[in-house]
Amino acid sequence: MIIAANFKMNHTRASTKAYIDRLNCTELSHDVRLFVFPPATALDRYESIATIGAQNAYCARNGSYTGEIGLEQLEEFGIKTLLLGHSERRHIFNESQEFITKKFNFYKDQGFEIVYCVGETLEKREEGATYTYIEEQLEGIDLGYERLIIAYEPVWAIGTGKSAKGEDIQEVLEFLSQKTSAPLLYGGSVKRSNIAEILSIPKCGGVLIGSASWDVEEFIAMIEIAKEN
Ligand code: 13P
Repeated sequence: MIIAANFKMNHTRASTKAYIDRLNCTELSHDVRLFVFPPATALDRYESIATIGAQNAYCARNGSYTGEIGLEQLEEFGIKTLLLGHSERRHIFNESQEFITKKFNFYKDQGFEIVYCVGETLEKREEGATYTYIEEQLEGIDLGYERLIIAYEPVWAIGTGKSAKGEDIQEVLEFLSQKTSAPLLYGGSVKRSNIAEILSIPKCGGVLIGSASWDVEEFIAMIEIAKEN
């Protein structure tokens, strides 16, 4: 089972170091795998029980891409895990499917583990277009890639405090599992009070947690619950 923390634009280098030091004091059971995605400025070669990944990267080794980081910057810290297609990248920064696919293919060719996010907007859900929307987000993505993890994160459940309902998550994970054998995560307002229920959904291989993961004690509490599941 995978428990992942997406810091988004939160935490500094110093607070990330303190977070990871504290996280290292927890005991993991063999079936739990942890990921932490700090902001780019806090990437480092941490001694960590968690796999450290980047939240985003451009599809080049280096070059004239002001404001971006690329393969060379990730290699400096031994980072081999990348989050791609997050709804905030898609909707706030207008990343197109074509652009995300370019990044996916570049980092796939480098053998990166890729946590690839999909999820419908409220508008699409209400139109009954959830599945066509998700299909579009899978266009160009190699669903047979052996280092792929897919995170289903409905946009309307992210940062709203309102997680999707168990049956809705189950339906979408079922749909995804017919297309890929990659582990499937759920993300969107996962917290201490709902993590056990979410992890008990068939086909749910873990969670990608935003706001509730930023406090390390909260994250550890959720890991403890996951260990009991
Ligand atoms: P929240 O847990 O804050 O809803 O964010 C989810 C998310 O976007 C994880 O990538």
